[in-house]
Amino acid sequence: MEYFKKIIRFAKPYQLYAVGNIIANIFYALFSALSFIALIPMLDILFEKDKVKPIIEPIYTDISGLKDYYKDFLSYQVHVYAENDVSKALMLVISLVIILFLLKNVFSYLAMYFITFLRNGVLKDLRNVLYKKTVDLPLSYFSEKRKGDIMARIGTDVLEIQHSFLSILELIVREPLTILFTIIMMLIISAKLTLFVFIFIPISGFIISRIGKSLKRKSDRVQKEQGTFLSTLEETLGGLRIIKGFNAEGKFNEKFQDSTSRFYDFSNKLLNRQNLASPTSEFLGIAVIAILLWYGGRMVLVDGSLDGSSFIAYMGLAYNILTPAKAISKASYNIKKGNAAAERVLEIIETDNPLKDKENAIVKNGFEKEIKFQNISFKYEDEYILEKFSLTIPKGKTVALVGQSGSGKSTLANLITRFYDINSGQILIDDIDIKDLTKKSLRHQLGIVTQDAILFNDSIKNNILLGDENASDKQVIDALKIANAYEFIEHLPNGIHTNIGDGGNKLSGGQKQRLSIARAVLKNPPIMILDEATSALDTESEQLVQKALEQLMENRTSLVIAHRLSTIQKADVIVVMKKGKIVEQGKHEKLLAKKGDYFKLVTMQSLS
Ligand SMILES: Nc1ncnc2c1ncn2[C@@H]1O[C@H](COP(=O)(O)OP(=O)(O)O)[C@@H](O)[C@H]1O
Ligand SMILES: [Mg+2]
Repeated sequence: MEYFKKIIRFAKPYQLYAVGNIIANIFYALFSALSFIALIPMLDILFEKDKVKPIIEPIYTDISGLKDYYKDFLSYQVHVYAENDVSKALMLVISLVIILFLLKNVFSYLAMYFITFLRNGVLKDLRNVLYKKTVDLPLSYFSEKRKGDIMARIGTDVLEIQHSFLSILELIVREPLTILFTIIMMLIISAKLTLFVFIFIPISGFIISRIGKSLKRKSDRVQKEQGTFLSTLEETLGGLRIIKGFNAEGKFNEKFQDSTSRFYDFSNKLLNRQNLASPTSEFLGIAVIAILLWYGGRMVLVDGSLDGSSFIAYMGLAYNILTPAKAISKASYNIKKGNAAAERVLEIIETDNPLKDKENAIVKNGFEKEIKFQNISFKYEDEYILEKFSLTIPKGKTVALVGQSGSGKSTLANLITRFYDINSGQILIDDIDIKDLTKKSLRHQLGIVTQDAILFNDSIKNNILLGDENASDKQVIDALKIANAYEFIEHLPNGIHTNIGDGGNKLSGGQKQRLSIARAVLKNPPIMILDEATSALDTESEQLVQKALEQLMENRTSLVIAHRLSTIQKADVIVVMKKGKIVEQGKHEKLLAKKGDYFKLVTMQSLS
């Protein structure tokens, strides 16, 4: 119930619909019970047409006489309106029954009508909250989770919640009320019979609850597996080129089929367990009815303490309990199933963001003096990648980071942008610890261009607008010109409105990179971080991109991580890193003359 309560909080904005649902359900339950009672005078007409009808209007005495009063009242009305014409009386009673059933169903629809808005509203809001949280959570959260798992949670788990959890809301008022009203009617007809029958209900309840026992665990496994196969699918779609190129279709097929066959096993077990519920409860219900027939039949035939038409109406009422009772027992399975889904969804929602802004975080505008790494240490997992690392990047200067791959260069970029938090030390911008700034204002100062240009399936313009959503078309084109990108866009039939495909795959690597530079140009931040921005390019497009980058770095403070050393010779300081430590730093010529690590790196590259 703990998860259920948490999910129900999401229904709060829709509480008016819940009220509508409850009111409609009260009427539904009432008419549902009354419609059976209305059958009694009809049966009387059929079976006891010779009997003398009450000619005098009956008088209400007290609650114990209620049943007789209601019966006699109906019979009297029939008598008055039908004037002892039996077929007319029959019509009248049938009309009454039809009207009651019609009302019952109208209210049943109304109740569902209202709850639909609530259910779909909760679905919508849950998905929005999940998505927002996904965008908000730090990168480290996702390196531990598979993408498919997240997708399964936002997609199918939320649906499962809507399907199984919220369907309970539909029943929560209606079914218990129907049962309550029906039992009241049954007690009115015959208290003795009702008490006898009710001894057997807890026994059936116990048997049914046994079946639901292991449902949550089973359902949990099914949902997890769903995540696994979505992950495989997601990876496959992303890596189709490599899968085909390496003839790995078979291997991936196998992996996928492993997952689907586990899914097959798990969901067979789950469904078969679930399917047991309905036949079991139906059979138990009929067993109770059989007991009732035996005991009630004797009351009618042997000691005559009940009349035939009342007994038939009573049977109808007893059957009327079966449907809601079944629905309630099914709801208890749904709660168990929904619990598993809710747990997975709430796990994301309730994950504490370790990179939250401080309560009175500073909003910083502009950049005045310097960026300073002061004795920082950082580890992703167990091993320190950087230890007691210090470096200062003064305003207006270009600092280049070089060194073997794995020496921690990209990690430094991840730390300035605060994608990860350092374990000790401080990163200061103009003497303010970046942990004291809002993430938004920190990242507002920074422009990032990485090795793989990350573009989205949208038009060129919309991709560039990420840099500044209010920019005009002219500003977008100017940015594209600075980034040397406009020359190829000019010739496209739709210009800057051309869609660039999934991940920008309709463009070449160099073109994509120039777009991502244009995006940074449009943002126009004081600090630029370039992480191997030209490494993935061929020499020709590298030169185009390099020119674009030089225009981008003009009048800015830049941290340039470079694989190709030819691109950073003009840097104000070159920092040579090795295993998370600075081994040399200085200008290009000075470092060359030193014949140390930098010299080695340069000679290695010019040889190849
Ligand atoms: N997300 C991550 N989780 C765990 N370890 C990581 C992660 N990213 C990088 N590393 C590790 O950190 C070290 C430094 O990586 P990185 O900064 O990317 O090197 P560089 O950019 O200099 O090639 C490497 O040993 C790498 O394995
Ligand atoms: Mg790197």
